[in-house]
Amino acid sequence: MALDRNAPNDLNAFWMPFTANRQFKKAPRMLVGAKDMHYTTSDGRQVLDGTAGLWCCNAGHCRPKITEAIAKQAAELDYAPAFQMGHPIAFELANRIIEIAPMGMEHVFYTNSGSESVETALKLAIAYHRARGEGARTRLIGRERGYHGVNFGGISVGGIVNNRKVFGTLLAGVDHLPHTHLPALNAFTKGQPEHGANLADELERIVALHGAETIAAVIVEPMAGSTGVLLPPKGYLEKLRAITKKHGILLIFDEVITGFGRLGSAFASQHFNVLPDMMTTAKGLTNGVIPMGAVLTTPDVHDAFMNGPEHMIELFHGYTYSGNPIASAAGIATLEVYKEEGLFERAAELAPYWEEALHSLKGLPHVIDIRNMGLIGAVELEGIAGEPTKRAFNAFLKGFEKGIMIRTTGDIIAMSPPLIIEKSHIDTLIGTLADVLKTLD
Ligand SMILES: Cc1ncc(COP(=O)(O)O)c(C=O)c1O
Repeated sequence: MALDRNAPNDLNAFWMPFTANRQFKKAPRMLVGAKDMHYTTSDGRQVLDGTAGLWCCNAGHCRPKITEAIAKQAAELDYAPAFQMGHPIAFELANRIIEIAPMGMEHVFYTNSGSESVETALKLAIAYHRARGEGARTRLIGRERGYHGVNFGGISVGGIVNNRKVFGTLLAGVDHLPHTHLPALNAFTKGQPEHGANLADELERIVALHGAETIAAVIVEPMAGSTGVLLPPKGYLEKLRAITKKHGILLIFDEVITGFGRLGSAFASQHFNVLPDMMTTAKGLTNGVIPMGAVLTTPDVHDAFMNGPEHMIELFHGYTYSGNPIASAAGIATLEVYKEEGLFERAAELAPYWEEALHSLKGLPHVIDIRNMGLIGAVELEGIAGEPTKRAFNAFLKGFEKGIMIRTTGDIIAMSPPLIIEKSHIDTLIGTLADVLKTLD
């Protein structure tokens, strides 16, 4: 059988990321193909992709326009340095990103992942203030339960304990806002919760504690994804924007998940109508197909660096693969697919159907909360006493057996399907999940 070619005979060498390696290698779940809404497993089964891979394949899988653009570019200009050299398509992609970005975002700095976008934005924030003569502004403020990738800056401002606690002292000079999850007040809310905008006022307390003149930036996910889909309470992001502005603190939106249509707009910034100073992106930028990330900035941030002698490098930062030609080609093709197929609008149109389907799970065993927005949703389960994460992970395993791919974090099931999803797929995904929930211990 052709698929046998893909079956490795030794699983030991690959130390898998964010995986229970020993458990996985005893009973591997191998994906060997993908098309549109489905994965194919090594035993020839079709699995409906309820998570767009890892929140990234927003246009679905193996889209010809994207795969062809990659093949063409690989044959034409495979690699070109981006340090002191350029190639046209990296510039073209930057312009296309700016075209769909919120008004006010005008510059693009390329990275290769969400984690690198975060590190880049944090470094930019500190260097920006220094360039303007405010070198004491070095503190970074994140938020509890925030996920900003896995590098040292990102885990320092992040707020997920397992991602931080075994990695030493992290960055100095970091503080955290409280998270916005208030189940007692907001459980089973459809869309943005009513309660919790006041939690943004905690920033005033942090400013009073440290002094505004020591704080460089606040970074938050406009909608927290990886921690289990926590939505911003109504008015919360607006307050954060007002307080940061008042104190001369930069606001960074980490849009690695929310970027490229997930909430029904190109970016969450447009959805919530709040303009940050920088936005971090990755994932959907290339439909997840080729690693690429980008930090978007306002002219104010960018222009602060554009001084000194013209022959001098303005920012000593960048990656070997920043603006890689093949990634750029994938990015351009991806943005074209989004546009030609109206996928951001499609996400907005399908959101009410998605919301109703998701909330139909209310009342099933162990379900203690359901949250949704755009084409993203979470079902929170009551954990098994003494065995946190197990119940949701069992749901994931059973779901995979029954032909759906969901994601779990703690005892929360998260879903974020490709934006090409049809109503019939939503019915299958949620219907199968309902069956799974009914059989869980
Ligand atoms: C908000 C956010 N920031 C950063 C990252 C890290 O991205 P990557 O895994 O590409 O480094 C993620 C990944 O899920 C994310 O959700």
